Amino acid sequence: MKKNTFEKHIFSICFLTVGLLCFVTSGANAQTPKLTLDLSKTGAKVSPMLYGLMTEEINHSYDGGLYAELIRNRIFKDNSTKPEGWSLVQEDTTTRATIKLVAADPNNISYDEGRLAINEALTTCLRLTVQKSGSLAGIANEGYWGIPVKPSTAYKASFYLKGTGSTPMRRFGPPQGGGTAPSAPTIENNTAGPITVTIESNDGKIVYATGIINLEKSNFWKKYELTLTTGADVKPTTNARFVISTNRSGLYYFNMVSLFPPTYNNRPNGDRIDLAKMLKDMKPKFLRFPGGNFLEGPDLASAFPWKSTLGLIENRPGHKGSWGYRPTDGMGLYEFLMWCEEMGADPLLAVYAGYSLNGDHVDAGPLLKPYVDDALDEIEYVIGDVNTYWGAKRAADGHPAPFKLTYVEIGNEDWFDRTNSYDGRFTQFRKAIEAKYPQLTCISTIADAQYPDLKVTSGKKPAVFDEHYYRSSWDMWENASQYDSYDRNGPKIFVGEWATREGAPTTNLNAALGDAAWMTGMERNSDIVIMSCYAPLFVNVNTPTATAPKAWQWDSDLIGYNALNSFGSPSYYVQKMFSSYLGDVIVPTTAENIPTQNRPATPQRPNSQNAAPAKPKAVPTIFYSATKDAKTGTIYLKVVNTLGKVQPVQINLKGVGKVASKAAMVVIKGAKPEDTNTITEPVKIVPITSTVKGVAPTFTQKLAPYSVTILSLQSGK
Ligand code: AHR
Repeated sequence: MKKNTFEKHIFSICFLTVGLLCFVTSGANAQTPKLTLDLSKTGAKVSPMLYGLMTEEINHSYDGGLYAELIRNRIFKDNSTKPEGWSLVQEDTTTRATIKLVAADPNNISYDEGRLAINEALTTCLRLTVQKSGSLAGIANEGYWGIPVKPSTAYKASFYLKGTGSTPMRRFGPPQGGGTAPSAPTIENNTAGPITVTIESNDGKIVYATGIINLEKSNFWKKYELTLTTGADVKPTTNARFVISTNRSGLYYFNMVSLFPPTYNNRPNGDRIDLAKMLKDMKPKFLRFPGGNFLEGPDLASAFPWKSTLGLIENRPGHKGSWGYRPTDGMGLYEFLMWCEEMGADPLLAVYAGYSLNGDHVDAGPLLKPYVDDALDEIEYVIGDVNTYWGAKRAADGHPAPFKLTYVEIGNEDWFDRTNSYDGRFTQFRKAIEAKYPQLTCISTIADAQYPDLKVTSGKKPAVFDEHYYRSSWDMWENASQYDSYDRNGPKIFVGEWATREGAPTTNLNAALGDAAWMTGMERNSDIVIMSCYAPLFVNVNTPTATAPKAWQWDSDLIGYNALNSFGSPSYYVQKMFSSYLGDVIVPTTAENIPTQNRPATPQRPNSQNAAPAKPKAVPTIFYSATKDAKTGTIYLKVVNTLGKVQPVQINLKGVGKVASKAAMVVIKGAKPEDTNTITEPVKIVPITSTVKGVAPTFTQKLAPYSVTILSLQSGK
């Protein structure tokens, strides 16, 4: 449908209410809503990249989410005053032991050899002091809201450890500037010998998996690795901790303590299997990363530091992050790219463009040049051949072949920068990127339609605009047709973040109905809406505990999880349905008799970036789009019913020739708009597949209350 859109629905409805028009066709009365799919016309092509994913470190999307690492605060930098996530464990009180954060010295100038830093990234370590041994004493990590224990599972543990006594070291002489070496009670160095490593219940009573490493007598850090395997009879639980303990006195220094369960595709430093599978099931065509606000950082110094996210995890210091906690950067640039590869998705790389969340920006010109150069380096890492500096680094990291890259986004939501500096910044980035990589297309984060006063005016118009929409279901229903009237010759649209924000932490059925309506509008117009991705993708649903904060910062997310289990929101299933049942050409479709409901006036629009009051308005209650697979002849008709009652729809397949009398139908529905899935009720609202009989060139399909229906109609080609 192009022209015959919402206006036409309204026209038809008004016309019918005064009784001037009467359609009588098989099985349908005059008021029956009617969809006519014109198969005699060749519609525009569906964008092959229409549905993708957007990701950033928010809501513990990676640490405590997709990134499979189980140890919280593995390099002890989350909080400079206390070892968050860590505690002392003692088998009994006869052992005198303490734990303390200790600054490691990157310059190796220390009286305490245990403090020598492993490298420049690991500048804090955890010291376990055992003054008098009797029984086991050690350090315990609580994980990200628990360590997930599963039966017959092999966990790979690794850590740096060094054991010393407390006698001050003489090797480096007195401190610079004079003085004497610090004094402390002498603790004998008995540290060499067996060290016990366990995954155990939080009260220590049940040991789920155990192993031993042999701590060597050495004055230097050493990395120890072992595998801990649970028994077949273990019951899944998150009520577990990871413990490293000793029965000897001494000073024990720990750093980069890591524990990985099996990962998706067994990739080292890889992803959690259940979540990766859920993403793969969505059949995403691209992945927009690394943000979002996470790209920009809270200030200019804290933008996504892609260079220090590469290589061995012990070389990654992590950084400040944008959502109130410190990301490990275990999910680094290379891991994003491997994630794309594992999903069969193209990377859509967002590069930092010199604007951060506190409102600071770098003006275009010489000051911006280092940022532009950094983006060029980053692109070289992604697509440079192995003879380039950064291409060689990528090869060394394990991927000699360049990745596929078509789109580079310059910044994120630069409309927040009301100084109008984006025009200059975008232009400088675009010029440099296109000069070196003419095959790449730069995306502007300011779209003419959304921010006409801030748009990029220098040089040619950007080829692609990124539009963001966070809305209520009313807003989605009201605006689902907005792309019907976009200029067909204007820039292409990337809807790089959008969501119907109802339900928390994950969305509810009503949000999914808003999403589906909105998606029909994008799909019908996928000649200009070339890409779209929902946000945020992930949420760790844990609520606060005595030692750990609430896991999420943003309500209404797509996929929820705790340490052990995960679930899709109704919105997740709608996403999956839309991308799984999609043709490659748009079928021009017109609608008649679409009933409306009245949107009430509200002084504000909840959960919306649009602050304007909502006016009362009649909005449609049925939304639709149709695409066809040109090779197989399958027509995918998507129809959304936002009302709590059955709505029959007459479907006319104009010019279809033959159509199979049976069709596959997939429906997601629920009894109440606020119905949802949760960690304890994960599959309340899921799609159900069935077969529909009686399909003909004209037939009537009943739409269930509060439902999204997709019919796969088999036509002759
Ligand atoms: O998706 C959550 C946030 O919303 C993103 O980080 C930001 O780009 C937008 O404002």
